[in-house]
Amino acid sequence: MGGQAKINEIVENFVYEIEYNDTILPYFADTDIDRFMEKFAEQLCVFSGGPCSYSGDTMEQVHGGMNITEADFNLTVDLFINAMNKANVPHTVQNKLINRMTHTREQMLYL
Ligand code: HEM
Repeated sequence: MGGQAKINEIVENFVYEIEYNDTILPYFADTDIDRFMEKFAEQLCVFSGGPCSYSGDTMEQVHGGMNITEADFNLTVDLFINAMNKANVPHTVQNKLINRMTHTREQMLYL
């Protein structure tokens, strides 16, 4: 897929997308962005086939209690797609990553 450098590029683009989105940014008001970038990159590495392991908290632990709406979940996925497009990730790879990411949906909505 392009290794760690490509993953870091996607994560940086994603944080940029979040920073410029008035709907999603407030969720990250108290977030340690360096930690978010590190853990999110680890998870992307796992989703893209590794080899690596995820050392962050579970999706329930992280997102439970945030009251994320369905619309905001979908918007975040759109921001992630923008981030991948800007990093020139091929659509076949994008589909695979989105598929794995969105399987976490039930672990974060309505908790
Ligand atoms: C689409 C699927 C998503 C995945 C795979 C995902 C994944 C992650 C990961 C891996 C972390 C880092 C966990 C850690 O620090 O241990 C994280 C943190 C976070 N996520 Fe998500 N996320 C998703 C959707 C969302 C959505 C929709 C929102 C809000 C609209 C959101 C808001 C946050 C926030 C605010 C944090 C930081 C939490 C903190 O400050 O401790 N995430 N996410």
